[in-house]
Amino acid sequence: MIDKEIIEKIIREAIKARDYAYVPYSHFMVGAALLTKDGRIYTGCNIENAAYGPTNCAERTAFFKAVSEGERSFRAIAVVGGPEGQTISGYAAPCGVCRQVMAEFCRPESFDIIVAKSADDYYVKTLRELLPENFGPGNLI
Ligand code: THU
Repeated sequence: MIDKEIIEKIIREAIKARDYAYVPYSHFMVGAALLTKDGRIYTGCNIENAAYGPTNCAERTAFFKAVSEGERSFRAIAVVGGPEGQTISGYAAPCGVCRQVMAEFCRPESFDIIVAKSADDYYVKTLRELLPENFGPGNLI
């Protein structure tokens, strides 16, 4: 199990990253903080687009930043989300596309997804719990 202090730290990083969300269309701000097995943290926010489809979720922003800098080993991700201009009052679990991206790089049984409202209000599930019976790299061997 991951340390409570580390969980709280990455939640705080996700909350800070959420401030950078670019959300002129949905006005729903999401922040994520991805923890590597070495203890490094990569943050992300959602970045929307006038054509809608190119919108990137906060979780994928964090993953793509990390992978593009050579990271391949991940331990956990914290995610926070809520409407612009409001304090976070609900949980925002990762969308299906982000879960699939996680499955590309993480072992489903040992990658933790921390869905948070604040550093003292959160729940933790494994990727396996949130994306059971996934299609993944192993299917193509
Ligand atoms: N969003 C995320 O950033 N992560 C998710 O897992 C769910 C949705 C973003 C996409 C869009 O910018 C906004 O939230 C509303 O869907």
